[in-house]
Amino acid sequence: MAQQEFIIQRYNPDTDESYEESFDVDVQPGQTLLDSLNQIKWEQDGTLSFRMSCRHAICGSCAMKVNGQSMLTCQTQVDAAVERGDPVRIGPMGNQNVVKDLVVDVTKFLQQFERAETWLEPYEDQEPPEKEYRQKVEEFDHWSHASTCIHCGACYSDCTVAAVDENFLGPAALAKAYRFVMDSRDSKREERLEYLSETQGGIWDCTRCYMCVQACPKDVLPMDAIMELRTLAIEAGHTNNHGARHHKGFAGGVRKRGRLDEMMLPVQSVGIGRLLTGQISAHKEMMDYTPGAIRLLKSRKLLTIAQRHGASAEGREQIQRIFDEVESEKHHHDVDADAFGAEFETAIGGH
Ligand code: SF4
Ligand code: SF4
Ligand code: FES
Repeated sequence: MAQQEFIIQRYNPDTDESYEESFDVDVQPGQTLLDSLNQIKWEQDGTLSFRMSCRHAICGSCAMKVNGQSMLTCQTQVDAAVERGDPVRIGPMGNQNVVKDLVVDVTKFLQQFERAETWLEPYEDQEPPEKEYRQKVEEFDHWSHASTCIHCGACYSDCTVAAVDENFLGPAALAKAYRFVMDSRDSKREERLEYLSETQGGIWDCTRCYMCVQACPKDVLPMDAIMELRTLAIEAGHTNNHGARHHKGFAGGVRKRGRLDEMMLPVQSVGIGRLLTGQISAHKEMMDYTPGAIRLLKSRKLLTIAQRHGASAEGREQIQRIFDEVESEKHHHDVDADAFGAEFETAIGGH
């Protein structure tokens, strides 16, 4: 048995006071963080508040921030969470208001599932089957990862977009929406794809920071699901939105010139047609790019006219081949990302 220091973030709603408190706990080998919190509550301070239920990584209620990263405290052993000798810092999940100590208000997180309508909408005009509705094994295998979510909120807590945008649907609700888009028993695939691409805070607002994938204790791969939703939305023709135009301009530019052209990207994202037809909203969107453009100019990151021709003919050809290879893969997570990255570096490296 070894003694371990825990530094717990406390919040008292009666006095609106936030503070850190240190507790020393005798830890057995294999003991989890949640075991340790219970030990503190039962033996040292009965007022310490946190959520828990199953203790088996099933109910999703014990997610907290441990040394800055969200995780299930019942699934994480003390030894795995900390270098020997260092204190374990435990705080409430991020991006949600704290109710008391380690308890957060999950209303906002759960409302995102409602907004994304994450429930099955069966075909009304079909006779129900004699027994249950069937799903093909190979279809299920493709999206089964997205069906294992336990709604713990760890991904939402660490999401860098949810931190700055209340409207963002967030990784868990988007992964759940993906699960229904992919389910052949669901009748609303097209409507879902349209909503997820057009709504404020939908699939195009993710910055691909990867935090949700790292935080998820169930390998739901929310970011992968969001990226696949983007592809499906474009394939379904939902391209008249800022995100899809940005995607097309970005990838199209790199494919054509072998490098990103920041000068043209805002124009392509806003939509050349919208600008030419004098849409006021389009010109307002262009104005929003002004501060960023000034920063790029100052830091000399905008390509000069001479640089805008891009990579050499040989480099461009190599990059186009990489694009072709990636596009020929049916699902983007089948692509070997490391090999792709290395080849891309080689293609642009000498130019
Ligand atoms: S990858 Fe997207 S959804 Fe996931 S945490 Fe980052 S911004 Fe949020
Ligand atoms: S996607 Fe993963 S981290 Fe997010 S709520 Fe579901 S199980 Fe938790
Ligand atoms: S207590 Fe249920 S997931 Fe941790």
